[in-house]
Amino acid sequence: MRETYGVILAAGEGKRMRSKHPKVLHSLWGKPMVEYVLDVCQRMELTKTFLVIGHQAQRVKEALAHRSPCFVLQRQQRGTGHALMQVRPHLKGFSGDLLVICGDVPLIAEEILRGLLAAHRAARAAATLLTTHLEDPTGYGRVIREKQGGLRRIVEEADANARQQSIQEVNTGIYCFAASSLFEALEEVGSSNRQGEYYLPDAFPLLQKKGGRVKICYTADSEKVMGINSREDLAQALLALKRGKLTELMRGGVTILDPASTFIDIPARIGRDTVIYPNSYIEGETVIGEDCILYPGSRIVGSKIGDGVVVLDHCLILQSEVADGSKVGPFAHLRPQSQIGKGARIGNFVEIKKSEIGDGSKIPHLSYIGDATIGERVNIGAGSITCNYDGYEKHRTRIEDGVFAGSNSLFVAPVQVGEGAIIAAGSVITEDVPPHSLAVARSLQTNKEGWAQGWHKRKARAKPKPQGQ
Ligand code: UD1
Ligand code: CA
Repeated sequence: MRETYGVILAAGEGKRMRSKHPKVLHSLWGKPMVEYVLDVCQRMELTKTFLVIGHQAQRVKEALAHRSPCFVLQRQQRGTGHALMQVRPHLKGFSGDLLVICGDVPLIAEEILRGLLAAHRAARAAATLLTTHLEDPTGYGRVIREKQGGLRRIVEEADANARQQSIQEVNTGIYCFAASSLFEALEEVGSSNRQGEYYLPDAFPLLQKKGGRVKICYTADSEKVMGINSREDLAQALLALKRGKLTELMRGGVTILDPASTFIDIPARIGRDTVIYPNSYIEGETVIGEDCILYPGSRIVGSKIGDGVVVLDHCLILQSEVADGSKVGPFAHLRPQSQIGKGARIGNFVEIKKSEIGDGSKIPHLSYIGDATIGERVNIGAGSITCNYDGYEKHRTRIEDGVFAGSNSLFVAPVQVGEGAIIAAGSVITEDVPPHSLAVARSLQTNKEGWAQGWHKRKARAKPKPQGQ
C-alpha cells in the first residue's frame, strides 16, 4: 500500500470573515473549524499530517498544539499553491500520495476522502481533483472540462468571465497528488491573475502537460465540502452539523419535538424512547438514558442522566449525575459534581452543589444543598440550607439515611445528622444529632391563653376606632 500524508492549508487570514482572529480558529460548535479537518485526517490514519500556518501562526500553533500535527510555516500568504510548496522540504525521499485539504472545509466526511483516495490510486493518477455541483457556485473556482469530460483547468471566481461564472461544477479545494510529480509542476505556477496569487489549482493543467494523468472525482454531497469564507457560511455549517446530529438521534429512536429549537452536541448520546421538548440544550459528552422526558428549556452539560428520568421545565444541570427514575425541576440547578440517586426528587428552585443525594431522597422546594452527603430516603423540607461556607473554607454536612428535616432547617457545617433523626422545622443545627433523636434548635413556643383578647381591649380603650369603621 502506498503511503499517504495529509496536508491542511491553514495559513490564510480569511479576509471575508472580517475578524481579528485567524479564520481557521473560528469556532464551529465549540471547536476551531480546522480541528474538524484534523479529526478526519486522524480517522483516516494518515502516516503524517502537515498543517500549513502563516497568518497569526503563533496563535494557531498554540491553539492546536494538543493535536500535534507537523506545523509548516508559510511566511507570506501568497496563495494556496505557494502554501503547498512550503511542505516540499519536509518530503525528502517521500514518493507516496498527498491528500491536500483546505482548512476551511470542516464538514468534510471520511467516506468522501476515502473515495477520493481510492479513485486516485485506481487511476494511478498524478493528481485527482474533488468536485461538486452547487446551485449557487459564487466564491468557488469553476471546473472547466474538455469536450470529452477531462479537466481543462480551474478558473477562480475573480478571473472568470460571465460564461465561466455560470458553470456550477466547482473545485472543493480537496485534492490528491502523487508527491513525486507535484512540486515540479507547482514550481511553474505563476501569479499573473486578478489576485496576484500562486493558485494551487493551476498545477493541474501543468501536470497534464508533463504527461501526468489527472482525474476528476465527483461528490453529490455538496454540503459536506462547503468552504467557510464568511460568517454566513459559518452559520450555515453549524446548521448542517446540528441537523445531522438530530437526524442521527431520531433514527436511533429519540423523539425530538422541535428540531429547530433543539441543540445537541455531537459527542452527546441519548437512549431510545427519550422525548425531548423544544428549547433543549444538551452539551458536551452528556449521556442520557432511555425513556427520559426533557420538558422545555433545560440545559444539560457534560452530565450523565440514567433511564426514565424526568427533567421538568427550565433546569440547568452541569457535570452531574442523575440516576434512574429521578425527577428534577422545574427550575432546579445542579452544579458540578452533584450525584442524584435513584428515584430521588429535586424540586422547584433547589440548588445542589458537589453533593451526593441518596436513592429515594427528596428535596422538593427552595433549598440549597452544597458540599453535603445525604443518605437514602431522606426528606429535606422547603427552604432548608446547608451553611457550607464560613467566609474562608467550605465544610461538609452529612445527613444519614431516613432523616426527616422540617422546613427551614439550617445545617451549619461541619455537622452530622444520624440515621432516622428528625429535625424540627426552623432549626439551626450547629451540633451533631445522634441517630433516631429529635433535634429542636430554636426557642420553643409558649402559648398565653386569652392574651389576644385582653390586648385588643386595652388597645381599643386607648384609641377608639374612627366613626364608620
Ligand atoms: C479555494 C480554491 C477554489 C476552491 C475553494 C474551495 C484556490 C486558488 N482556490 O478558494 O478553487 O473552489 O478553495 O473552498 O486554491 N491558504 C493558505 N495560504 C495562502 C492562501 C490560502 O494556507 O496563501 C489556505 C487558507 O487558510 C484556506 C485555504 O488555503 O484554509 C483556502 O484559501 P481561501 O482563500 O479560502 O481560498 P478560496 O478563495 O476559498
Ligand atoms: Ca475558502
